[in-house]
Amino acid sequence: MSSLEETKVFNQNDAVIEGWYWALKSSKLKSKKPVHLNFLGRELALYRGEDGVARAVDAYCPHMGAHLAEGRVDGKGIRCFFHAWKFDEEGKLVDIPCRKSPGLDSKIKTWPCQEKYGMIWIYTGEVPRQPVPFIYELENTEVDASFGNEFVKECHPNVVMINAIDAHHFTSVHNLPVDVKFETIVHNDYCIAFENRTFIPHTRWYLKLFDKFYEKYLTYKMCYWNGSSGSVTVGPDFLHCHIIFALRPLQNGHTEGQTILVTPKRSGLLGKFLNPIILWATKQVGNYFAKGDTEVFKTIKFKLKTPIKEDDSIIKFLQHTEKQKTCDWGFGKKKINNPEIQEKDFQNEKQVQARFTNHASM
Ligand code: FES
Ligand SMILES: [Fe+2]
Repeated sequence: MSSLEETKVFNQNDAVIEGWYWALKSSKLKSKKPVHLNFLGRELALYRGEDGVARAVDAYCPHMGAHLAEGRVDGKGIRCFFHAWKFDEEGKLVDIPCRKSPGLDSKIKTWPCQEKYGMIWIYTGEVPRQPVPFIYELENTEVDASFGNEFVKECHPNVVMINAIDAHHFTSVHNLPVDVKFETIVHNDYCIAFENRTFIPHTRWYLKLFDKFYEKYLTYKMCYWNGSSGSVTVGPDFLHCHIIFALRPLQNGHTEGQTILVTPKRSGLLGKFLNPIILWATKQVGNYFAKGDTEVFKTIKFKLKTPIKEDDSIIKFLQHTEKQKTCDWGFGKKKINNPEIQEKDFQNEKQVQARFTNHASM
């Protein structure tokens, strides 16, 4: 059996890749009330400190196991409902109300948490090795974002993800009149992109018309972050539409996803009226992509048994995913450390951290 069939990480439900995963819409985390979150098989309490910062902690109180989401926010920390122990923003026990000082060392586990695109993202490792998924051509641009659909697919996120680079099915399922051919761009160990390198053919009158809006190739890019979130960029040169497909695995091997529509911030009246229209149009583009494959995802038992040349991008994505580091979250019991990635991480740590900090402030 080839390594394409016998995967250890790709499409494996007991191997959760370390990375940022969408957790909860920011609007659902109010300032006073912590929220229960069962996330990638781990029970968490999410709360917004009095400083407005969203935080994620393991749910169960180290005293007697009360769920901390039943408790209350206190400063940057959280106080358990049951006996009111307080844990600060680093998870450290700082107060037991019936004592002058706690008199013991105790900690709850905290997880890296960030808000971007109106969404709270949680990192499933100790220290983030990459920023929250972003769109490269908007890397240093302020953006407006809105939500598209929330959906469930009956297969693993990795399998849902390959749909966007399965050029082979663009014609058989979506009737695309263009022959898409991808070039692979490896941005870093966690991020791989595929960009179309074909021009619009002049086989039909409307294609000739479309071609006037493209200086070079038909714009179609797909950029993946740790195999679980990806952004599609499509559209003429004067208006690129960006759709982030944020996915996360479910215990039963299915996928829970959320689409996020992104466009550069535009100032003044133009931005106020144009951006909502652009985001709405982007949502329709996203719906178009999502349509047509629904039935196949209900029954597929993915195995790349007979790869052909046209499956090249899928093979590259699969191999990239196989190299990802996994974490021991919930149903991700199979922790796989890729020594090559760890070594590079160590060397690049400062660079990565600087990049992460830049993004955190955007
Ligand atoms: S169970 Fe949390 S303080 Fe007792
Ligand atoms: Fe498709």
